[in-house]
Amino acid sequence: MRLLPSKKVVGEIAVPPDKSISHRALMMCSMSSGVSVVNNLLESEDTLRTFRIIGELGGNFRGGFDRMEISLASWKESLRPLDCGNSGTTARLMAGVLSGKEGFHVLFGDDSLSGRPMERVVSPLKEMGASISARRDSLLPMCITGGKLRGYEHSLSVASAQVKSAILLAGIQAEGTTAVTEPHCSRDHTERLLRSMGAGITVSDKRVEVEKSELLPVRFSIPGDVSSAAFPIALAVLHENGKVTIRNVGLNQGRTGFLRLLMKMGADIEIEVEESLPEPMGTIVTRSSRLIGVEVGSDLIPSMIDELPLIALAGVFAEGTTTVRGAGELRKKESDRISVTVQNFRKIGVEILEHEDGFSVEGPQRITGGKVDSYGDHRIAMLFSIAGLLSSEGVEVTNSNAVGVSFPEFFKTLEEVCQ
Ligand code: S3P
Repeated sequence: MRLLPSKKVVGEIAVPPDKSISHRALMMCSMSSGVSVVNNLLESEDTLRTFRIIGELGGNFRGGFDRMEISLASWKESLRPLDCGNSGTTARLMAGVLSGKEGFHVLFGDDSLSGRPMERVVSPLKEMGASISARRDSLLPMCITGGKLRGYEHSLSVASAQVKSAILLAGIQAEGTTAVTEPHCSRDHTERLLRSMGAGITVSDKRVEVEKSELLPVRFSIPGDVSSAAFPIALAVLHENGKVTIRNVGLNQGRTGFLRLLMKMGADIEIEVEESLPEPMGTIVTRSSRLIGVEVGSDLIPSMIDELPLIALAGVFAEGTTTVRGAGELRKKESDRISVTVQNFRKIGVEILEHEDGFSVEGPQRITGGKVDSYGDHRIAMLFSIAGLLSSEGVEVTNSNAVGVSFPEFFKTLEEVCQ
């Protein structure tokens, strides 16, 4: 896909439903004792992996992704290995769910997911009583023999909502109390949904505790994905002629770090929150802005984990130095997002410094243009497409179809607001 400089970025954008919440809705509604109704589920490559896996395990779905009735009468063992594709959330959260389900379960994924660390879920789930074996001890494919679990107290060395959620979803099936403590707070979608579904859960600061619980069915609507919204938001802010409005977008504090950071850099962003349960949502209006450089340290990382590469783009346009440190986790995402971001920016004429745990960029700089690769990573494909619209000569992004993982209508959506 070749993205050419755009003269104007103006209009209202509809972003896809939240990916993190959609995975959890599919899994947790299947764990409940009745029929749940969920509006606005994301239909993308990643969430379809979770949907199909739950189907293999006995899940019943009625309706479409816009309004789905979800139930599961009795969990069955799948005769086939369960394909998580590119989806880390599917693999890690399902490991937690399946640890408490009788039977032999095999999870596998694509090349990228097969290289991502699983020890962080394998080790605590084994402590809880699951029998797990994996390639080279902790890589996919992974075999889980699920059954009776016991409560466990676990402390994470790196904040991760995926790992926390895997342990909590095992924890509600375990005898006794299960507790997870994080060094910094990560997104709390699992905790919110557990509470709405009547689970015994206590949250205090960075510690979450759950008891063995039967989940009750729920009815709720999933907001738009703020991580998907981050791309058009950055585009409107960085473009000299930009104004974009996004409605019904999720505004969970654990996800809005990027918006707060852009505002600290000087971005003109208005946020109107309409409280709703289990997740806050609202409207975001963004306009062209002049930015100043900023430093991001480890405490802010979890609330903007998926948006960190976009901060490099903001740094290109901002006056002064923008630095991200303490973000070593970025090397373990769908691609090594530090290395891929730095390499790709250099290919389009931007000077950027790589650190082991982040990057620094001195602005303002001009993006000339060139050819980059997404390396199969959806967020990298979207980042460099936006960079193309802000460049002087255009950017060609190869493997741009990776956007289907979280934002299938990405290019069509951009077309609607770019002139
Ligand atoms: C996610 C948590 C984050 C995030 C990922 C989705 C989730 O990963 O990067 O895109 O749904 O819980 P980590 O928990 O590994 O940081």
